[in-house]
Amino acid sequence: MFLRSNTFISIVLNKVMAPSNKKSGSTARGKDNPSRKKLKASSARWMERQQKDPYVKAANQHGYRSRAAYKLIELDKKFKIFRPGQTVLDLGAAPGSWTQVAVECVQPKPDGSSGVISVDVSPITPIRGAITMEMDFLSSGAASEISKILPRQLDVVLSDMAAPSTGHRQTDALRVNVLCETALEFAMEVLAPGGTFVAKVLKIGAEQHLVEQMKMNFKLVRHAKPPASRKESSESYVVALGYRL
Ligand SMILES: C[S@@+](CC[C@H](N)C(=O)[O-])C[C@H]1O[C@@H](n2cnc3c(N)ncnc32)[C@H](O)[C@@H]1O
Repeated sequence: MFLRSNTFISIVLNKVMAPSNKKSGSTARGKDNPSRKKLKASSARWMERQQKDPYVKAANQHGYRSRAAYKLIELDKKFKIFRPGQTVLDLGAAPGSWTQVAVECVQPKPDGSSGVISVDVSPITPIRGAITMEMDFLSSGAASEISKILPRQLDVVLSDMAAPSTGHRQTDALRVNVLCETALEFAMEVLAPGGTFVAKVLKIGAEQHLVEQMKMNFKLVRHAKPPASRKESSESYVVALGYRL
């Protein structure tokens, strides 16, 4: 059986290396260190932005793990992605707000015939109605590990995967687009006819060939920048509807 309601299942496939506790040299710790001051200033800016952000407030009120929940809610409102009874794969799911939204929308069945599978390289605190898997989706064997637990073809594949920023726009975009490409390849193996693929891309132009590939395999492909996605962020989403097997 695929998903059992009231069951929390966490499959830990890859132990992620714990971050090193090694401290940098003594100069880096000095009070007057310029990079420390810079860091303080950027943390203060981040705090201020979080406090003013209506999506952060709403996420806190509704119990979503992050403001990112509203990006998916807005995409769903526009493209009608979810229906009760569906099976969904959520790639790059931590901390879990997209999974929370997907679970609310598909309403996992007690017989396990619908639900959400959530994958991330970081751990995801269990979410009722979802199977959580800790693994690097780019690692060899990831696709077959996920395929092993799929009960049937999927209705929706989501990818909000993003590698940590290097600060170099082109490099970041290429890394996100590789994640999107890998997710698309997998989606085309596991989606049912008529299925939906939603993925984050960083727009630099290089994502164009991905969009072309989607257009060949889906009835409708659209770019979308949901209002909850920050204007200053170059992220946007590609929504591909109606998978043609
Ligand atoms: C923007 S966050 C996702 C937020 C999530 N959608 C939510 O609503 O909570 C991007 C996620 O992609 C994950 N990620 C990046 N590279 C990955 C990889 N190779 N395999 C699995 N997850 C990855 C990161 O660990 C991070 O948690």
